[in-house]
Amino acid sequence: MFHWLEKNPFFFAVGVFVVIAFAGLIEILPNFAEASRPVVGLKPYTVLELAGKNIYKKDHCIACHSQLIRPFKAETDRYGQYSLSGEYAYDRPFLWGSKRTGPDLHRVGNYRTTDWHENHMWDPKSVVPQSIMPAYKHQFTNIADIETAYAEAVTVKNIFGTPYGDEFQPTKEAWEAYRPTVLAEAKAIADDMKNKDVKEAVANGQIPEIVAMIAYLNRLK
Ligand code: HEC
Repeated sequence: MFHWLEKNPFFFAVGVFVVIAFAGLIEILPNFAEASRPVVGLKPYTVLELAGKNIYKKDHCIACHSQLIRPFKAETDRYGQYSLSGEYAYDRPFLWGSKRTGPDLHRVGNYRTTDWHENHMWDPKSVVPQSIMPAYKHQFTNIADIETAYAEAVTVKNIFGTPYGDEFQPTKEAWEAYRPTVLAEAKAIADDMKNKDVKEAVANGQIPEIVAMIAYLNRLK
């Protein structure tokens, strides 16, 4: 029936285009539906969590970890509820990843705690003897770039309407006024940690990367 099409390169090309465009629409259209809007109760990342997300990108955790639980029994048994597109509404960019040398992390906040992460990031083998994950000791001394994370929050608020409050303004004064809020959040995490240098840094108003990293990992649920 379509033999004439196979002999006519022009219309064949048009046909291929139509089929691919249709398939593309089927992939794209559901994302405009209500179900893919921010899931109920979803909050934008706090500034500290955003800073942690940036460290996740910088230290390339995505090379070994995905953040997307597929709707298969083996996955939901292990990680919990499969991921919904509306959960990523404030992820810019999303960090789904495609490599699983380590486990999926999309809901790791449900079953790992601050002190577990502290031990694990310092020396993975101390908590998982067979682990091949590298240690991230430098995160305990490197200071996180919180100001850039704040600027990022202001930017997504202004460009995409991410619901950050009025205190998020693109001025130095607004950032200075907001800084204590981030420090308080960091202190709450440092209080649950045992590393003395980290606690001291936070008490002195500096936030080591590990604190932001853990804030981000705890948020993944
Ligand atoms: C070279 C691959 C590799 C890289 C890079 C890597 N990981 Fe892992 N990760 C693993 C492996 C393998 C495991 C499983 C063994 C273990 O728990 O240590 C794991 C486990 C974990 C777990 C425990 C998850 C669970 O369900 O028990 C967390 C949390 C984690 N990684 C966070 C990170 C973070 C954060 C980074 C980036 C700073 C990172 N990983 C980078 C390989 C990696």
